Amino acid sequence: MPLVTTTEMFKKAYDGGYAIGAFNVNNMEIVQAITEAAWELHSPVILQASAGARKYAKQAYLKHLVEAAVEATNNEIPIALHLDHGADFEVCKDCIDHGFTSVMIDGSSRPFDDNVAVSKQVADYAHEKGVVVEAELGTLAGVEDDVNVAAETAQYTDPDQVVEFVERTGVDSLAIAIGTSHGAYKFKPGTDPHIRLDILEEISKRLPGFPIVLHGSSSVPQEYVKIINSNGGALQDAIGIPEDQLREAAKRAVCKINIDSDLRLGMTAGIREHMAAHPDHFDPRQYLADGRTYVKDIVHNKIINVLGSENKA
Ligand code: G3H
Ligand code: 13P
Ligand code: ZN
Repeated sequence: MPLVTTTEMFKKAYDGGYAIGAFNVNNMEIVQAITEAAWELHSPVILQASAGARKYAKQAYLKHLVEAAVEATNNEIPIALHLDHGADFEVCKDCIDHGFTSVMIDGSSRPFDDNVAVSKQVADYAHEKGVVVEAELGTLAGVEDDVNVAAETAQYTDPDQVVEFVERTGVDSLAIAIGTSHGAYKFKPGTDPHIRLDILEEISKRLPGFPIVLHGSSSVPQEYVKIINSNGGALQDAIGIPEDQLREAAKRAVCKINIDSDLRLGMTAGIREHMAAHPDHFDPRQYLADGRTYVKDIVHNKIINVLGSENKA
């Protein structure tokens, strides 16, 4: 099978009580790590490219790397190529015109009516070309935002807005804010993070059968933070979203869970450990291979313990 859209993936995930992992890709080793793990576990997977990824690697490389992964996994698992956080209509159009099977239009920082207008514009164009669209309502905290409780509450997606938003835009899935946030520094150690499954329940009651997306879903695995910091790194202490809570969300209406930071930690841990153990090495294949192994281990764990998508290909 060539690159697929997420329509079928989400329908099965919704009905089966699991979610599809949407992993950010920036280079060949990351693409290989994710797709090899998914292949071994017979899991569908979404590979997504952010604006930063497209700037770093160039869109053509990312697209062809993902297509190479389809071939390298013998077409045996469904793989979708998704634009992560498309900022405006033009960037979404560019990806739609160049073979992406899914795009996100992120109008979440715009006023409601502007978000509706741009999301509808993207959905209308994408649907003509058979591409599916994710939009976002509600705002996730920034990477290191020191949000107080009141500000945090204001950022959750308002269940009263979701039906109107989906009806007016025609989008195919909706990213919501229920307490996750982007980056590796989500919560201070010793805190007890809780995502708002009650808001998720409320939203899914209003939108029965409709696929919900969670961004900012890294768990910041402490074993990799330790490897990094004991091999010359200086990451601050932080914790992420507990994996068992994400698993609960995946059993409900959440069909797509976005993970990037954890992969970065794995890649960095492998490279730092390798460099510290072998200061004489200078062949990138040696240290990148170790980074790739840790990324693969992380994706393996996500598929089994967070997403529940093993054997769902
Ligand atoms: O949601 C953001 C992703 O982690 C992508 O990050 O823009 O640095 O590629 P990036
Ligand atoms: P993390 O930073 O938690 O991995 O989130 C990634 C993400 O939401 C990409 O869109
Ligand atoms: Zn995101």
